[in-house]
Amino acid sequence: MINSLRGFRDLLPPESDLFARIEAAAREVFGLYGYQELRIPALEKKELFVKSTGGTTDIVEKEMYAFTDGGGREVAMRPEGTPGVVRAYIEHNLGQTGRNAKYFYIGGMYRAERPQAGRYREFTQIGAEYIGNPSPAADAESISMLVRLLEKAGVEGCSVEINSLGCGECRKAYREILLGHLRGCQETLCEPCRSRIERNPLRALDCKTDGPALAEKAPKLSLCPACAEHFGSTQKLLGTAGVAYKVNTSLVRGLDYYTRTVFEVRTTALGSQDAVAAGGRYDDLVKSMGGPAAPATGWAMGVDRVAMLLKDKPAPDNAPKTFIVAASKEAGEKAFALMTALRAEGISSDFSNFELSLRSQMRSADKSGACFALIIGEDELKAGACAVKSLKVPGDQKMIPLSGAPSAIKRLLKV
Ligand code: HAM
Repeated sequence: MINSLRGFRDLLPPESDLFARIEAAAREVFGLYGYQELRIPALEKKELFVKSTGGTTDIVEKEMYAFTDGGGREVAMRPEGTPGVVRAYIEHNLGQTGRNAKYFYIGGMYRAERPQAGRYREFTQIGAEYIGNPSPAADAESISMLVRLLEKAGVEGCSVEINSLGCGECRKAYREILLGHLRGCQETLCEPCRSRIERNPLRALDCKTDGPALAEKAPKLSLCPACAEHFGSTQKLLGTAGVAYKVNTSLVRGLDYYTRTVFEVRTTALGSQDAVAAGGRYDDLVKSMGGPAAPATGWAMGVDRVAMLLKDKPAPDNAPKTFIVAASKEAGEKAFALMTALRAEGISSDFSNFELSLRSQMRSADKSGACFALIIGEDELKAGACAVKSLKVPGDQKMIPLSGAPSAIKRLLKV
């Protein structure tokens, strides 16, 4: 017996249905906002993530599934989607298509974190990236699209927190001020923070151990006039879009590429894994990866966590509408044709095995959750008809001709 790996799981029905529902809601919302799908590889060169996600982040330092492949290449399973989208944007000159570079992706991400409820080593993200628009309208559109998507999927009770990390210039000044503060309290910091403050002092602010205390005591970043204006306009437009949000000046995010706006959507319903989605602006990443100067903004949503939030909500009934039963081989052929015709008319249908007894097929029909069993017995076969037996209302049964059966069933189903 070989089991799945820790932190990797099979998605079984009904949870797999929930994933499909969330993805369907996302595709609908992406259509409204002009986003197109990008399918990026799960495996990339390791250096892509080291250079973009950041060499001093927990994701790259501790959590990557990175290995040397048979050909001696240093590769890594993607821990997040943004670097792959940026690579594809540069590699395929997507800035030259004449269309907005608005892309979404849906897929598995891999992080060797300690597994717990809501935290897996393989998890699904739905992500959106908008490359090429520096304006606050792009930030506000991106965040409001995420909120719209969560609403569409049926998620309630989430809160949006936003902050601005400023531009490279704001951060250069802040880096020195923060570094001074961190050097002063070095002995109170955890070992990983102590070892990386000189390389990346900002990382200490989102450290799980030191972050909360530093958020209170460390000096705050002050924005340059242009970044302050960008942040102000983003908030104004969020208001216009009807998005409720809270400014959280301690929000820093655990990835290196962010500039200006960052945000997280949180819930109180998931315990410690409270981030349902997160993202922000990354104006310098495309250029730093060898592409054109292309400011960008985006986010990713944790589908596993959204599915947990929706678990107890009644799912739309996905039982077949009709269940087909046949009494003989010949009746089975008619039944098969009937099932084909029903599905062609958009009426979902299922069957068990026409070679089993009528009683056994009816048992399966009862369990299927269908509204009607359509039965072709010997009498019906002779009459070119089928019996329509309600599986919801006892004793309700009538005969209908096979020709024109789909329209008659539609009328009965009131669709
Ligand atoms: P992130 O905050 O690392 O951002 O991940 C986004 C979301 O993925 C989290 O809010 C959470 O819901 C989900 N997530 C992360 N790790 C796990 C895990 N181990 N198990 C289950 N769910 C998880 C990014 O990945 C950025 N690429 C977002 C972005 C896009 N920024 C700009 N564009």
